[in-house]
Amino acid sequence: MTRKVLCIVGTRPEAIKMAPVIKALQAERNIVCRVLATAQHRALLDQVLEGFAITADLDLDIMRPDQSLATLTSRLLLELDGVLQSEKPDVVLAQGDTTTVMSAALACFYLRIPFGHVEAGLRTGDIFNPFPEEANRVIAGKLTRWHFAPTQRAVDNLLCEGVDASAVTLTGNTVIDALLMTAAQDCDLDVPVDPGKRLVLVTSHRRENFGEPFQDICQALKRLAERNPGIQILYPVHPNPNVKDVAHRLLGQTPNILLCAPLDYAPFIAAMKRSYLIISDSGGVQEEAPALGKPVLVLREETERPEAVDLGVVKLVGANRTTIVEQAQRLLDDPQAYQSMARGVSPYGDGKAAARIVEVLRQHLHSCG
Ligand code: UD1
Ligand code: UDP
Repeated sequence: MTRKVLCIVGTRPEAIKMAPVIKALQAERNIVCRVLATAQHRALLDQVLEGFAITADLDLDIMRPDQSLATLTSRLLLELDGVLQSEKPDVVLAQGDTTTVMSAALACFYLRIPFGHVEAGLRTGDIFNPFPEEANRVIAGKLTRWHFAPTQRAVDNLLCEGVDASAVTLTGNTVIDALLMTAAQDCDLDVPVDPGKRLVLVTSHRRENFGEPFQDICQALKRLAERNPGIQILYPVHPNPNVKDVAHRLLGQTPNILLCAPLDYAPFIAAMKRSYLIISDSGGVQEEAPALGKPVLVLREETERPEAVDLGVVKLVGANRTTIVEQAQRLLDDPQAYQSMARGVSPYGDGKAAARIVEVLRQHLHSCG
């Protein structure tokens, strides 16, 4: 008997990390895989789906410029409820900790549809950091039937919260599946970077940094660029107006800072490969960069991804101007410090996470008759 799995994606990182799962489900004989885009992100989501040649079967077109979290959540919940009632999936899958994921888990709970959480068990233990993602994943985790945990630490977090061990599978992170699929294409970096300069790649978009912390981050980048004419900072700017407007105002005039629109995934991987150093507050980048042997300075006070920090290949620098400049300068000036962070150790997976997730679902769906 054919069973239906509905994969829900809303934002850029969800699409990247669900793409390998969607591909693996599409290859299954007795499973129909449907893709629902909430389009919490519009341009960023479309960019990724196109890059992985995935067409959404359903699209809620939820994004509105700069909408509040309450508006976003209530609109998602109402729309998801309607779609789930008409689609009647046997299983719903979603990835990560965005508002799309929390709303999907809740909508499934109300309709008693079993929900599988990809990248389950990440925790900082601080409900306000990252905001609102820590709350999103804690809420989703309470409503989840299958927890697909990327690391042993994530498994342990779930067990400590009282989740039954039979509901938890250690899978690795699907981002490594996506990275390996994409890096193998060896795509060109389609941005005119200066071949004579060391490239520093930057991304930043976290809500808890909006306002003064983000201005401090921009001032630190400016100072770093001015002090080091031999580097070029490449910053693909997130379209969130709280980020984009400030970044262009504070960094737009510095000659060795290149601001560009968000890059497609394959060129972004090419930029990571080409970079000397990465400065970012992104979750996904913290997982990908170690696999590519690139040091990351993380623009956050704490992380739910401590594995790479413990290995010494990722360092937390917060949003403090002086710390960011000092730590980046050290990696630019001190080859030993640089080498100790550029070791190419990848604690987040082996590229087979999607296969493990599908295996769990296959067993469940076939046991249902
Ligand atoms: C969202 C997630 C965050 C995730 C990030 C990945 C929530 C609350 N936040 O943050 O966990 O790390 O995505 O990037 O779920 N916008 C565009 N075009 C786009 C995308 C966004 O213009 O393609 C603008 C819109 O004005 C939109 C705003 O950015 O309203 C914010 O988008 P939203 O999805 O609410 O939050 P992000 O800050 O992007
Ligand atoms: N990324 C991309 N293009 C860019 C910047 C990032 O494809 O211009 C990818 C990056 O490789 C990672 C993901 O987007 O896989 C991270 O997304 P984001 O930083 O928006 O969200 P987070 O991971 O912090 O939730």
